[in-house]
Amino acid sequence: MMDQHLTVVKHPLIQHKLTIMREKDTSTAVFRQLLREISQLLAYEVTYELPMTTRRIETPLEEMDAPVLAGRKLALVSILRAGNGLLDGMLELIPSARVGFIGLYRDEQTLKPVQYYFKVPELLSERMVIVVDPMLATGNSSAAAIDMLKERGARHLRFLCLLAAPEGVARMQEAHPDVPIVTAAVDERLNEKGYILPGLGDAGDRMYGTK
Ligand code: URA
Repeated sequence: MMDQHLTVVKHPLIQHKLTIMREKDTSTAVFRQLLREISQLLAYEVTYELPMTTRRIETPLEEMDAPVLAGRKLALVSILRAGNGLLDGMLELIPSARVGFIGLYRDEQTLKPVQYYFKVPELLSERMVIVVDPMLATGNSSAAAIDMLKERGARHLRFLCLLAAPEGVARMQEAHPDVPIVTAAVDERLNEKGYILPGLGDAGDRMYGTK
């Protein structure tokens, strides 16, 4: 599925790995490793429109104008703590990316985001900024994080997640229609606690073995 705002990456390798991640008996180590692998496959999609230029180089045979990335290094911004599971794999692929962190926790009563940490690279207005968080659930945290980044000047944003709920996609579409979302799946709905169904549970807990 692909429209201007939402890209669901249906690649068989991603879908197979995601199924293993969803299973409740998958170990922490396997879950983390699969998230790393999927993040690299999704990174390929989310960076598809990075601006390019050419550089004059010499091969052993002759000179050529060869394609290279243009402009400032892109910025990856992880929404703590689960975002770090996507971040690690992406950094292996794009080691020169600049990295920011936004700490938001979800108030269990209101389901609204509360900020506890914010540290991002300079010159956001001149970079592509990719916000990473595995679970786009209510969309409240993601929309709030993007508000904060826009306040710091970010203009060219993308949002990368592993799983999305229709409610989260709708919330993002309403709040930030200019920010394309890339995900591996859009699930059925949220439950009354704001968890994605069928989902995979709490991504942070599954990644770090905290439950
Ligand atoms: N965050 C998670 O980790 N899982 C969900 O299902 C929703 C939000």
